[in-house]
Amino acid sequence: MCALTQKSGVKQMFSEQDRIRILEQSLSMAPVNVQLELTEACNLTCSFCYNSRNPVESSKYEKIIEKLVQEGVMEIVLTGGEPMLHKDFLKIAKICAESFARVQVQTNGTFLTDDVASYLNKYGIGNINISLHGCEQTHENLTGVKGSYQRAIDGIKAIMKTDISLCTNFVLTSQNIREFQEHVDRMYNMGVKLFSLTRFTPVGLGSSSRFLEVSIDELLEVLRYTNLRHSQDKELNFLLANSIPLCALPDDLRNHCNYCHFGSSRFYIDVHGNVLMCGMSRIKIGNILEASLKEIKMNSDIYKCHVSGAKISSPCAICRDFHLCRGGCRAAALAATDDYFGRDPLCSRCMACN
Ligand SMILES: C[S@@+](CC[C@H](N)C(=O)[O-])C[C@H]1O[C@@H](n2cnc3c(N)ncnc32)[C@H](O)[C@@H]1O
Repeated sequence: MCALTQKSGVKQMFSEQDRIRILEQSLSMAPVNVQLELTEACNLTCSFCYNSRNPVESSKYEKIIEKLVQEGVMEIVLTGGEPMLHKDFLKIAKICAESFARVQVQTNGTFLTDDVASYLNKYGIGNINISLHGCEQTHENLTGVKGSYQRAIDGIKAIMKTDISLCTNFVLTSQNIREFQEHVDRMYNMGVKLFSLTRFTPVGLGSSSRFLEVSIDELLEVLRYTNLRHSQDKELNFLLANSIPLCALPDDLRNHCNYCHFGSSRFYIDVHGNVLMCGMSRIKIGNILEASLKEIKMNSDIYKCHVSGAKISSPCAICRDFHLCRGGCRAAALAATDDYFGRDPLCSRCMACN
């Protein structure tokens, strides 16, 4: 039984009624966005990757997509591994474009030729998010593959010739963070206006590269720079892919606070149809080919505690701003404490925690 009625000695800022209301709403809600992993395989060897690089691809994608359509999912993000390595990638992209309101592809960009971009454009793919982690040498040091930078740049240029919207994703690590400004300049000069940023989380293959973690001060410097660039050009936008605890953010950076949407409006499904809390934590809560999402949510204690916040460790749980960041990134907490409901390491500045 989920610890929804758990009592602690301290005053709860997030009341029991709040928790139950959030849980009830969440159980009946169709997820807006699902990230669907097409393959675990990848042609790059990123040292930080949360995935496995195992050569296993989804063989049941048609059934999975059918189930997601029945569930009322609005938007799908095709990911991996490298999704474009799937032998049926173009066919899958077409089926998805015909089945969902919006389709995105998260890719390393190395297979995005003009021809492929033009097919994706014809199908009506909404957005392509290309991973690019710095200037040429740094990007290739991180991906481990020579030529991967230029191929991603060619991929960006190919997408720019189409109507598909483009975003680039930069994983913030100790190896590329000092190049962030130069990277933004280069991309901006190419016409890129949308950036997503992911803070490196030491999970999966990346768990043996903890030296890649960035400090809170480095992260704040990057966020401050994004605010500066946005103030100079309002069309230039930066999105943070994973949640940052509010208490880690000074007043001028509070615009970067967001709670993790995985497990409420967003789900992650692996190559076997397993529903995961998120791609990084890889905590399995059920299988979409065996049960409905509602049944999966109802039968998973970890899911219920995630959305209700019931098991989050007490400094966060008693914080009056808990509803804003919900304690930050659960995958980061899991990596740091071995506990999914533990403390996000960036929460260490919280007055209540010290
Ligand atoms: C696993 S990749 C899969 C899609 C595709 N191969 C790509 O490179 O975009 C999805 C995104 O997660 C990022 N990523 C992978 N491992 C990560 C980690 N440990 N921490 C933060 N972001 C990570 C990747 O750089 C990429 O932007």
